[in-house]
Amino acid sequence: MIAVRLGIWHNNNDGTSSRGKREIVMSFKQGIRAWGVAVLCLATLISTEAAARTKPFKMALGDGGGSPQQVMGQKFVELLEQKTDGRHGTLMFLNGQLGDEQSTINDASMGLLDFTLVAINNVTPFSPSVGVLTLPYMMQSLEDAIALTQGEVGQQLVANTVRDANIRIIGWTYTGFRALTNAKRPIHELSDLKGLKMRVPANDIMIDTYRAWGINPTPMAWSETFTGLQLGVVDGQDNPYMTIYAMKFSEVQDYITNIRYLFSIEPLIVSEEVFQAQSDEVQQAILAAGQEATEFSARYLVEQEDKIRAELVSQGMEIIEPANEREWMDRAISQVWPKYYDRLGGKEQLNRILKTLGRDEI
Ligand code: MLT
Repeated sequence: MIAVRLGIWHNNNDGTSSRGKREIVMSFKQGIRAWGVAVLCLATLISTEAAARTKPFKMALGDGGGSPQQVMGQKFVELLEQKTDGRHGTLMFLNGQLGDEQSTINDASMGLLDFTLVAINNVTPFSPSVGVLTLPYMMQSLEDAIALTQGEVGQQLVANTVRDANIRIIGWTYTGFRALTNAKRPIHELSDLKGLKMRVPANDIMIDTYRAWGINPTPMAWSETFTGLQLGVVDGQDNPYMTIYAMKFSEVQDYITNIRYLFSIEPLIVSEEVFQAQSDEVQQAILAAGQEATEFSARYLVEQEDKIRAELVSQGMEIIEPANEREWMDRAISQVWPKYYDRLGGKEQLNRILKTLGRDEI
């Protein structure tokens, strides 16, 4: 028999409680068991506390609620939480609250931000080979986008962004073709663009594409674009239907021209420094959550895009089919592509990519 003295809180008869000593008499075996239970409780308490204490990750997004970025980001956050048994939560900061898209990439590359979800055109300045995904008319369908991002080309681009910018792409949001919007007039043909002030992201390939179409566009950060359109600093811009809708561009734009020059992809990025600081288990959870969210994003695009187009029309926007898109395409391919052969790994590399897509070599 052993006696254990415990300092415990107990209830007094007058309804108050106070700390006192109670003597509990138990057998040796009971004592060992009691200590075992106490140690187990303590370990559970410590591990629960540690789990609860895991600092949430931070994710920056350029777009607002309801955008494909937000839908993809939210899916990833839920999956990561599930896969880590609730240990890894993530706080999402929408609408460029943590800075414009290019500055959030910069922060992630320095390890100051965990995740960012941005348009691919904003990654190219940090890792030029990614520009292959912004070459006009390279991807001509969702299937092309999936083939490029989820095959060998995509794996190479992921490795290049780690090497060039210390960021790792862990998921791809598919957001559809970038349609051209403006507030001045319906654009049917290339010649209708004349005199329009068009906003583009600070992306050389996109700037050169508009130049090939005969106008000099205005590079402007995404976070300034709505205000730029509202104040008439620029007359138009291009972005996918789902982004145009989520960002409420129908309030400041009237016409949409349904060109298909760029299939928009918005990668989900983790800071490589942050990624390398995680255990193997958490790294695997991040990669698996990114892959599942990517697959979800493709389904979401197919389900939503037509509804969103109809919604934009009901908000008063006019959708115009370009009269001869072949001309837009020929000018862009003949004038823009050759300028970027070297930066994108050479003409042979582009031919390999075209072959992957089942298209003719250049
Ligand atoms: C841009 O035009 O800069 C991007 O497409 C904006 C976005 O992230 O949706």
